[in-house]
Amino acid sequence: MNNTELETLIKTIPKAELHLHIEGTLEPELMFAIAKRNNISLKYNSIQELKLAYNFHNLQSFLDIYYEGANVLLHERDFYDLTWAYLEKMHNENVLHVEIFFDPQAHTKRGVAFDTVVNGIYKALEDGKRKLGISGYLIMCFLRHLSSESATETLKLSMPFKDKIIGVGLDSSEINNPPSKFKEVFKKAMSYGYLTVAHAGEEGPPEYIWEALNSLNVLRIDHGVRCLEDKTLIDELIKRRIPLTVCPLSNIKLKVFSRLEEHNLKELLSRGLLVTINSDDPAYFGGYINENFLACQKALQLTKEDIYNLAINSFLGSFLSKKEKTHFINKINDVVKISSKH
Ligand code: HPA
Ligand code: ZN
Repeated sequence: MNNTELETLIKTIPKAELHLHIEGTLEPELMFAIAKRNNISLKYNSIQELKLAYNFHNLQSFLDIYYEGANVLLHERDFYDLTWAYLEKMHNENVLHVEIFFDPQAHTKRGVAFDTVVNGIYKALEDGKRKLGISGYLIMCFLRHLSSESATETLKLSMPFKDKIIGVGLDSSEINNPPSKFKEVFKKAMSYGYLTVAHAGEEGPPEYIWEALNSLNVLRIDHGVRCLEDKTLIDELIKRRIPLTVCPLSNIKLKVFSRLEEHNLKELLSRGLLVTINSDDPAYFGGYINENFLACQKALQLTKEDIYNLAINSFLGSFLSKKEKTHFINKINDVVKISSKH
């Protein structure tokens, strides 16, 4: 396949997105529009000025701006509009299933009610299913820079919405906030029927991935790129078939790797790990899912087989049922069959 054909394959192949923070899809234009209707004054005078601030040197420097941006979100309609804009984009990128993170504590600590957040996002997901045919799950993340008590409090707040939330995750500042800090609250969440994931091994060491596996019993690792530093860990991830939700453009923006050409995605794949490509916070990192695929294809010479495997992995690594996974994988095979005829 030549480069144009690979580009077409990336754009048309059915995909799932498994690592996406809905607050990280807040495009500057929408941020300004919502700020205006909510009578909130932003620190920046223009979209251009705001975009100049998107120059991160690590995870924390990004998070400071990300939480500031999320401050414009006050009403159910704001969360709906945010989620709907993302789903429309995904529809255009042939993304058929999404598992969306949200950060309730980033909103409840500002006095925005838990139900405002969930209802706004969830209504957009329902419309996404009905109008666009996209299926979607919601994963509630605990902010790891806050206390485990605050996480437990948030877990309690989620109880009336248990049927709208499929699982819990762990995000925010990784260094010095190891997964073990949240052992008890994850145990409780599992006993309530929530599935579990955690960010680990983005900036933090392989030991944090071990902790996410052994203390939190997670079903997926978000990022996990530092696992290659520990051979025993790689074997364990393979043995347990733990998916890694890798976010290539995010890793470059947050200086986890200095250039995309140096990203270890291809090596993770070649070791036999269940790797997926995701966008993390696309409004801040310069690209949604197809842009992540396209940039990786160019920088790392992804082949047709790599793209096919990554698309299959995105469904295999999801929380869909076995039957649904088979349905989506059949759809992938239809597209690949057609494209190989040309
Ligand atoms: N890492 C940790 N926390 C986050 C991220 C991320 O990439 N995006 C939003 N919250
Ligand atoms: Zn993330």
